[in-house]
Amino acid sequence: MTTIIDGKETSRQVLQNLHVEIEQLKQAGHTPGLAVVLVGEDPASRVYVNSKVRACEELGIYSQKWTLPTETTQDELVQLIHQLNADTRIHGILVQSPPPEHIDEQAVILNIDPRKDVDGFHPINVAKLVLEDPSGFVPCTPLGCMELLRVYGIPTQGKHAVVIGRSMIVGKPMANLLVAKNANATVTIAHSRTADLPGLCRTADILVAAVGRPGLVTADFIKPGAVVLDVGINRVEDATRPRGYRIVGDVDFASVQPVCSAITPVPGGVGPMTIAMLMSNTVKACKLACGV
Ligand code: GUN
Repeated sequence: MTTIIDGKETSRQVLQNLHVEIEQLKQAGHTPGLAVVLVGEDPASRVYVNSKVRACEELGIYSQKWTLPTETTQDELVQLIHQLNADTRIHGILVQSPPPEHIDEQAVILNIDPRKDVDGFHPINVAKLVLEDPSGFVPCTPLGCMELLRVYGIPTQGKHAVVIGRSMIVGKPMANLLVAKNANATVTIAHSRTADLPGLCRTADILVAAVGRPGLVTADFIKPGAVVLDVGINRVEDATRPRGYRIVGDVDFASVQPVCSAITPVPGGVGPMTIAMLMSNTVKACKLACGV
């Protein structure tokens, strides 16, 4: 029997625990605060940003939503970041990725105070992840994947994990988390130029797909009994749906599910965990700032 890893329910439990912690912080006079910045009109980004702000409201986290027009300049965006760095109500700053093409995302990230970088994108936090320094911030999606493995009691020690995708948001931090001494997996990072991707993936005990290619991973990629984490959130046209599209992962769920021992569905798998971990990182930033 294949376990369907329920990210919705797991995220609910994470948020429930955070709610208690936030109430305690508030009673001590500390309200966690998150600023979410969206530049441009990307419809998917708009949905994500709104979900993040809604999660703050439900938990009692103070939030600011900044929606800036596509033509916002780099200087204007950096100016806002400096304003948010100085705002003591704000403990976490998130600039939704990807920004419009004329914005140098890395340069913007460098301007975020690393202590408020709840995305874990600043080089200081990237270094802390590699150094296994727990005072840093880890990107929310891979952090959510690790939480799912932990909650479902899926062992990582001595296992071969293959991560498909080398992004700074998911692939690379995921590989770092899996290889760290508290996980002890043996990790391979695969990407678009990897030779014999299906053959390599068939050596994986844990397979993480994070490439943004709908249905790339099919049954022939899977060692029987492997654990499959699908990080893909892809919109594919579907005239039968009210919005004209549906969301699918990087994994062809129907063919893979019978072969693996556990799998995250899309939607309802990794996605909800990303927001829960963002809330968790915001609470962590508040506690670090307030010295509690
Ligand atoms: N775009 C897709 N995922 C993320 C994320 O985790 N953080 C930010 N800032 N942008 C994203």
